Amino acid sequence: MNRASRQPLRLVVREAERILTGAGVGSPRVDAEELAAYVLGVRRSRLPMVPLVDSPVIESLRRLVTERARRVPLQHLTGRATMGGVEVAVGPGVFVPRPETELLLEWGLALLRGFTAPLVVDLCTGSGALALAVAHARPDAEVHAVEVDPVALSWARRNVDARADAGETAVRLHSGNVGDPTLLAQLDGTAHLVLCNPPYVPANAEVAPEVARHDPPAAVFAGPDGLTVIPEVVRTGTRLLREGGGIAIEHDDSHGEAVPALLTARRVLTAVTEHADLAGRPRFATALRRMLESAGLPRSGIDR
Ligand SMILES: C[S@@+](CC[C@H](N)C(=O)[O-])C[C@H]1O[C@@H](n2cnc3c(N)ncnc32)[C@H](O)[C@@H]1O
Repeated sequence: MNRASRQPLRLVVREAERILTGAGVGSPRVDAEELAAYVLGVRRSRLPMVPLVDSPVIESLRRLVTERARRVPLQHLTGRATMGGVEVAVGPGVFVPRPETELLLEWGLALLRGFTAPLVVDLCTGSGALALAVAHARPDAEVHAVEVDPVALSWARRNVDARADAGETAVRLHSGNVGDPTLLAQLDGTAHLVLCNPPYVPANAEVAPEVARHDPPAAVFAGPDGLTVIPEVVRTGTRLLREGGGIAIEHDDSHGEAVPALLTARRVLTAVTEHADLAGRPRFATALRRMLESAGLPRSGIDR
């Protein structure tokens, strides 16, 4: 390689950042560095160890930066996203897991500390990210994941198989609709934890170009108020929970009252709590399934 064709990585990244800033990308520096790390095959934290880069690297990075400037999601370019430290493959046809969903995961993992060999259900699993993160953090868990869309399900299958090949307990994938009253009926009353990041964006909401052009619409939007799927999640999740088990549902920041109200309306749920994201916006709601005997309630009609 001709040494004259080498350039300081620092300058190449700065130029990428400038282009991404001009394109309106929300985190231009991070994205420029992530793309550089991807091309170099190193972690982003290792970039300072790479002072100079050759022209093939510069060319590859330029091509990716051009795509990112056209608002192709970073994760579609690198082909990967992470949840709970677990890397999943993502691309066209599947929702890209978001950092804010880590909060939902943390709540769920904290709840699971009170149980051994817990049973966990991830409704609306997409790439399988949440389910795989739970399986990774809790190898003693039996984790089930449900997805209605066949393309998303095929991404989840690929990710589940990859983790199983790496020696982790396989997540059990189910093709199904959360609105189906018979969904996972064999697990009724057995789940210690139900997690769900469903579609919840109101249909007319303005979204970033990455979302509008690249996330599957059925993974993002849920009717005029964003609430067509969540009531089904509440119904199915409540049915699946065992006494003392918990449910956590991510929602739109306009749902800070509506989703807790849906949970409160189920008499068998208690401790309904609304949680904010790191920006202080309402982001997910949680509840626990009552211990009926201690509450003095009859055992009949326990799915109410
Ligand atoms: C917002 S994405 C979340 C994916 C994943 N849980 C995550 O956090 O990355 C919602 C997912 O729910 C799926 N979905 C939408 N409606 C559904 C339904 N009625 N039953 C099951 N899955 C559904 C979509 O296909 C999509 O994959």
